[in-house]
Amino acid sequence: MAIQSGTHLGPYEIVSAFRARLTAYVLLLGLIFTGSTGCYETQRSKERAIARGKALFEMHCCGCHNGKRTDLAKMPPDLAGIFRQPHLPSGVPATDSAVRSMMLAPRSDIMPSFEDSLSDQEIGDIIRYLRTVGPETHLCTATRSVIR
Ligand code: HEC
Repeated sequence: MAIQSGTHLGPYEIVSAFRARLTAYVLLLGLIFTGSTGCYETQRSKERAIARGKALFEMHCCGCHNGKRTDLAKMPPDLAGIFRQPHLPSGVPATDSAVRSMMLAPRSDIMPSFEDSLSDQEIGDIIRYLRTVGPETHLCTATRSVIR
């Protein structure tokens, strides 16, 4: 209902105008509330994805990418900070899809494919984790004592 200024408002119009306004405020508050809890959820699910990625990385990648595999024909590179540089050790651009394809169809005789052992979501979580890691980080500390 449009309220025109200068129009005489009876008690019914005043009450219904007030109600309309109240409804608008309640809706607005509801939007703000759900909006902010939505952000909170996103932040939490982000943190969870990164924590999952770290655990998966330690489980599947630290056996080789731990700086100690002198027994292999080629030393697996340190992956700390790979996304802070323009290129991966092989020289391809350091993008999510390059790291993803390294896990699915590695350009390597040594590194296995994780196509059958990691889901798309898990590969994404590992990438998210690696994106949080800077070159100063010592990866694989949790598994360092286990792997010789
Ligand atoms: C059996 C040992 C082994 C395992 C396990 C392994 N890698 Fe590798 N990875 C290598 C080697 C060796 C290289 C160097 C590439 C080559 O063979 O020339 C490499 C290279 C890479 C690179 C660099 C690619 C480039 O283009 O420079 C990335 C990224 C990578 N590995 C990610 C991973 C991730 C993520 C995992 C776990 C899901 C993993 N690797 C597990 C051995 C391994």
